[in-house]
Amino acid sequence: MNILIVGGAGYIGSHCVRQVAAAGHRPVVIDNLAFGHRAAVAPDVPFYDVNLGDEAAVGKILVDEKIDIVMHFAAFAYVGESVHDPLKYYFNNVVATLGLLRAMLAKGVKKFVFSSTCATYGIPEKMPLVETMPQAPINPYGQTKLDVENALKSLALAHGLSFAAFRYFNAAGAAEDGTIGEDHNPETHLIPLAIDAATGKRPPLQLFGTDYPTPDGTCLRDYVHVDDLSRAHIAVFPKLETPGVGFFYNLGTGTPTSVREVIKAVEKVTGKKVPYTEAPRRAGDPPALYADSTKAKTGLDWKVKYNDIESIVATAWKWHSAHPNGFGK
Ligand SMILES: NC(=O)c1ccc[n+]([C@@H]2O[C@H](COP(=O)([O-])OP(=O)(O)OC[C@H]3O[C@@H](n4cnc5c(N)ncnc54)[C@H](O)[C@@H]3O)[C@@H](O)[C@H]2O)c1
Repeated sequence: MNILIVGGAGYIGSHCVRQVAAAGHRPVVIDNLAFGHRAAVAPDVPFYDVNLGDEAAVGKILVDEKIDIVMHFAAFAYVGESVHDPLKYYFNNVVATLGLLRAMLAKGVKKFVFSSTCATYGIPEKMPLVETMPQAPINPYGQTKLDVENALKSLALAHGLSFAAFRYFNAAGAAEDGTIGEDHNPETHLIPLAIDAATGKRPPLQLFGTDYPTPDGTCLRDYVHVDDLSRAHIAVFPKLETPGVGFFYNLGTGTPTSVREVIKAVEKVTGKKVPYTEAPRRAGDPPALYADSTKAKTGLDWKVKYNDIESIVATAWKWHSAHPNGFGK
């Protein structure tokens, strides 16, 4: 099939482009390079430097490339910035996405895979998180993702759109061959920050909160390898054959890992000390967030290949050690 990967030059999207090709499909990429990297996508993959909200341009690509399924990874994803500049987030993550969906419906493309997030759950009362638990985002970023989830339900009912929305936990790691990986600017994710602190590329890591009600006092998160995430997006294709169906899946390993455990894994894998300073808790950081991904594991026959933090960090280290300046920007 011809798969349009919107945001395909970004971190998760670029890994998915490779998995889509490896599964025997034909990837086509749209990315306006607001954050992504052209070099993250192989030169032989059709690439359109287009804003996803440009309905005319997107509509033409859908027809010209005979697109069967659209995967949508493109969004702004800095929680703190979304609090200070909500309009930027509502316009890009919601309004532009509605434009993309309208272009799809106009051209009769009715299969959609969406990157949602565990941030739609807000501060949950119980762990692990199951898809049916209440969603109450505590920041505009999480709200924009929930708004799109809700729009998808309406479009399935009204227009027969078939969709899957994946609620990712913490995407991590890099391609096994170390040729593409995470390169965000600014970087806010723990594993690249810890690796860069270990190599001296960045200042010591700040460890926010050491007095949480967790075994070692630091926050627990669920790190899931970017290639494992990508494989779920492909495993869902057969489900989208039925018009008007909608699925929501958590994607995590289900293993809670603390900040201190991540630091230990980085030290073990790199053989270097991770310098860090202890800082107060950050507002809005729940003590623990981890998934019950039974629904994806049973319903999609989704198997997690990278089940432990060290194996995930090892792939990240392969990428970062070979590309200390990321894609070189
Ligand atoms: N990284 C995580 O841990 C994580 C966790 C939960 C959810 N998500 C979601 O997964 C998706 C991908 O995350 P990522 O870490 O790969 O982000 P990323 O920033 O690396 O990739 C997003 C890509 O979308 C592109 N883009 C943004 N707005 C665009 C627009 N209007 N038109 C065209 N292209 C546009 C950017 O240039 C970038 O290449 C996002 O939707 C994010 O909200 C990520």
